[in-house]
Amino acid sequence: MAKRFLQSPPGMPDILSRDQIFFDKILSVVNDFAGFYGFRKIETPILEYTELFEKGIGVSSDIVEKEMYTLRTRGGDSLTLRPEGTAPIARAYLQHGMQNFPQPVKLYYFGPFFRHERQQEGRCRQFHQFGFEVLGEQSPAIDAQVIQISYRILEALKLKKITILINSIGCSLCRPYFKKILKNYYNARKNQICPDCKRRLKKNPLRVLDCKEEKCQRIKNQAPKIVDHLCDECKNHFKEVLEFLDELRLPYILDYCLVRGLDYYTKTVFEIVPLATPDFKNGIGLETRSQVALVGGGRYDDLIKLFSREDVPAMGVAGGVERIIKEMKADGKVFQQARGPLVFLAQLGDLGKRKSLKLFEDFQRAKIWVAESFGRDSIKSQLKIADRLRVKYALILGQKEALDGTIILREMDSGRQEIIKFDKIVDVIKKRLKK
Ligand code: HAM
Repeated sequence: MAKRFLQSPPGMPDILSRDQIFFDKILSVVNDFAGFYGFRKIETPILEYTELFEKGIGVSSDIVEKEMYTLRTRGGDSLTLRPEGTAPIARAYLQHGMQNFPQPVKLYYFGPFFRHERQQEGRCRQFHQFGFEVLGEQSPAIDAQVIQISYRILEALKLKKITILINSIGCSLCRPYFKKILKNYYNARKNQICPDCKRRLKKNPLRVLDCKEEKCQRIKNQAPKIVDHLCDECKNHFKEVLEFLDELRLPYILDYCLVRGLDYYTKTVFEIVPLATPDFKNGIGLETRSQVALVGGGRYDDLIKLFSREDVPAMGVAGGVERIIKEMKADGKVFQQARGPLVFLAQLGDLGKRKSLKLFEDFQRAKIWVAESFGRDSIKSQLKIADRLRVKYALILGQKEALDGTIILREMDSGRQEIIKFDKIVDVIKKRLKK
């Protein structure tokens, strides 16, 4: 049996160079959008006090109940590997007195997150998110803008078959009232629902709407809808968000069962999913829905109030980088690998090696990418590598050339060779590559 410690931990894959190009592409699109829409980058630490997530995400959420990587420090503190980015941003906002900055404060981030999830398609234990957060603004236009940015980023990554699922889950005024209505409806059907729903009904009733069990689907689909029980403010807010989306011609589906797994949400919640997976009308494929959301977010007007007395309405989103990459690959998206080096430097003997190292620096300053294989000694095997790299020119610096102050320039296609003065070679290559 393979030794366990020679494997990366389950759900924590290496990101090999062939995938880095996708990461770079996503980061570059995210950076572009962030710059254009006025978001400033922030990096919070990978570890935070456990309490931040317990208070922020909610003790009855799946994340806090069973998915956090928590450790005790030597000093006895409890720290947790961040499972998400919104609670840390809210913490940073307060810690750095950002309520005194011009509002709204617009921040974005990109980095690794950790959840001890059951191993299944679309779920890693270490994964990457980009996120956008707008703090200090309650206008529904911000909800629409965050959704717009999320959608346009996926579009810029050439994902076409996607749609927005959207719902409103009300506020601290109207939600408790709806929870009662939902509880009454479910309690009257208690013998027909799964044990998980029974448990949720007690602890976190809205989450019954997230149930993926076959036997609960019909009951869920016929359950009272929260949008029919919103207070006037939430109703108007939601109406305006939808009007903005119409104005922007963004495709969306009202998903009355969308409640999201984090407790801090108020009013608007949304996800962007690949189309064609779930069939909401018939409830087919719903069991896979939470695994396929490429991005998810919503408004969290009460989160900061949980940490301080400040009233800071906020809205944000996070996108799952690995899931987006998987979708890009499924769409047949391939990125051109960056052009490799155009020059290869082959060397022989000690003096040749020493002079090559110096020459390398000169090429680096001239911004000409040169490859080498210092580990190999035979010119023949080095030229083989040059051939494989498909460089235009190989430079050969043997013992004789090193002593003469010359270097051989070989044109790889024709095999033609000429001797050039060592001091002139960077200029000669520059001219030939028309730099
Ligand atoms: P979330 O829905 O938990 O929301 O995660 C956002 C996205 O991260 C998901 O749509 C998914 O693409 C990706 N994701 C989540 N868990 C995993 C996993 N185990 N493996 C791979 N990808 C995953 C949040 O995290 C909120 N903080 C979003 C937010 C920002 N709300 C307001 N502001």
